[in-house]
Amino acid sequence: MTRWNDGVDEVSTVSPDITEETNALPNRYFTDPEVHEMEKEKVFGEYWVYAGHANCIPEEGDFFTRTVGDRQIIVLRDHDGEVTAFYNVCAHRGSKMVDDTPMSDPGHMSRIRCPYHLWTYDLDGDLASTPKSFEEPGLNPDLEGGDVRPPDPERNGLLTVPTATIGPLVFVNFSDDPMPFEEQAGKMKEELEALPLGEYEHAQRIVSEVECNWKTFGGNYSECDHCQANHQDWIKGISLDESELEVQDYHWVLHYTHDEDVDDEMRIHEEHEAQFYYLWPNFTVNMYGTADGYGTYIIDPIDEGRFQLVADYYFRDADLTGEEREFIRTSRQLQEEDFELVERQYEGQKMGALAQAQLGPNEHTVHKLHRLAQEAYNA
Ligand code: FES
Ligand SMILES: [Fe+2]
Repeated sequence: MTRWNDGVDEVSTVSPDITEETNALPNRYFTDPEVHEMEKEKVFGEYWVYAGHANCIPEEGDFFTRTVGDRQIIVLRDHDGEVTAFYNVCAHRGSKMVDDTPMSDPGHMSRIRCPYHLWTYDLDGDLASTPKSFEEPGLNPDLEGGDVRPPDPERNGLLTVPTATIGPLVFVNFSDDPMPFEEQAGKMKEELEALPLGEYEHAQRIVSEVECNWKTFGGNYSECDHCQANHQDWIKGISLDESELEVQDYHWVLHYTHDEDVDDEMRIHEEHEAQFYYLWPNFTVNMYGTADGYGTYIIDPIDEGRFQLVADYYFRDADLTGEEREFIRTSRQLQEEDFELVERQYEGQKMGALAQAQLGPNEHTVHKLHRLAQEAYNA
C-alpha cells in the first residue's frame, strides 16, 4: 500500500515530479471535486476552447448556445456575416436571455431579446430598445420625466467573448488576458486550414454521458497501447508499427498508418493514415482516412466524475449515404469500447490505492495532457 500511495498527490499544486516522462498526474487530480472547480477557472477559463462550427449558422441572425463550465455564450452570425460570441447574460439585471440551443439544432433571431423586462439588443450586441417603463418614471413619485436618461446603448451592450477560428471551427476565450490563439493552436491551425473543412456539412451529433473524469478519457483518446486488445475491428486496417504520435506545444497528432491504401476519394487529407488532432484542453478533430469527411469530439466535464462526449460528424452532404451511416456506426462502436475502458479505469482511480500512474514510452501524449494540466493548475 505505501509503495503505491506515497504522498505525492497533494492537490494545491502538482509535484514537479511529473516532469519525468513516466510520471502521470497524481490520481487525486482526477477524483477531487475541488479540482473540478479549480479547472473551471484555471483550464476552461484561461485557454481557448471550442465553441462550435460556423457552417451550422450560415445566415445573419442564426445562432447556437454553448456552455463551458458555469458560463454560457450565444454564438451568432452578425450583420456583417461574421461569427461573434456574447455572454448569454442581459446587461440590465443579468438574466440568462436565450434558451439552450445546441449547434446541431440552431436557432434564428433578428434581435436578442431578454424575456425578463424585454431589453432588446441588435446582433452587434448594442442595446437597441427598452420598454417605455425605462423611459417614463410613472411609478416613481420622486422622479419626473425630465430626470430620466434612457440607458446608453453601448455601455449597456452585451459582453463580447473573444473568438478565433481554424477554418470553420470557432473557439472562444474567457480569460481577461488570453494567450494569442496562434500560440495555443500552433501548426494545427495551418495544417487544418490547408484542408477544405468548410466544404463539409454537419450531418450528425451523438452525445454520451460517461462515468469518468474528462482527463481519463482524454488520455485514452491520446494513446493506442490499448488498441490491440480492445479495438479488434479497427486495428485490422492499421499498421501500428508505422504509426506516430506527434506532440506539439498545446496539441498532439495521432498518425495511424493504414495497412493498405485506401481510395483517395475516401480521405479529406493526402496521407494514407487516420489523423486525430487533440487540442488542449478538450477538443479533437478526427480524420479517419476511410471516409470522405471528418468528425470532432468535445470532451466536456460535468463534474469530477462525469463528462459528456459530444461527437459531431461532417460529410459533403448533410444527407447521409448508407456507407456514411455505416461509418458512423463503426465510430460509435469505437466510442463504446473506450467508454467501457475509461469507466473501468475510473472505478480503479477512485479507490485511492494507486496515487500516481506510471506511463509507458508510447504514452508520451498522455504525459503531455497531464503536463498541460499541471501547468494550468500551477499557474
Ligand atoms: S434582466 Fe434582462 S431585461 Fe431585465
Ligand atoms: Fe480507444
